[in-house]
Amino acid sequence: MMKTFTTLITAGALLLAQSASASPAVDAMLKVYSDTGAGPFSAEAGERMWQEKHSYAEIPTERSCVSCHTNNLSDSGQHVKTHKVIKPMAPTVNAERLTDTKQIEKWFMRNCKWTIGRECSPQEKGDFLLFIQKSGV
Ligand code: HEC
Repeated sequence: MMKTFTTLITAGALLLAQSASASPAVDAMLKVYSDTGAGPFSAEAGERMWQEKHSYAEIPTERSCVSCHTNNLSDSGQHVKTHKVIKPMAPTVNAERLTDTKQIEKWFMRNCKWTIGRECSPQEKGDFLLFIQKSGV
């Protein structure tokens, strides 16, 4: 009886630990990207790309993910063109982040094109997701 109880507690604790750290939407996206042959994914690579600056002839001539989301993902950002506030990217601070695969893909599409000048590859998107997921922890 006691043993079953302990096992149940352990299983419950494991489940809790998992739901606190992993997002089902991120897991689903990483699976999609892996199926195209991408991976393993790296939060460090995601962080480097997050800060990487890209040059343009038109204003703003220098663009990175930091332009709108800042370097501290626990902080609010500000849209570099519209000046609208963008809520923090870190899922630990903003529980809505990385919960909706459609939202994630939509914004990857727009933001990669605007910032990098092309769509991001499955490898790059996986790296970005790990970096964002890890931020603010
Ligand atoms: C020109 C401003 C701008 C730049 C630059 C930008 N973003 Fe965003 N991003 C936005 C806006 C606006 C949203 C949607 C508003 C919101 O969700 O608060 C968003 C949302 C996102 C989301 C959706 C997250 C979620 O689950 O809600 C992801 C992922 C994202 N951006 C990644 C990136 C990456 C990676 C880069 C760099 C390649 C980048 N963004 C550069 C403005 C920007």
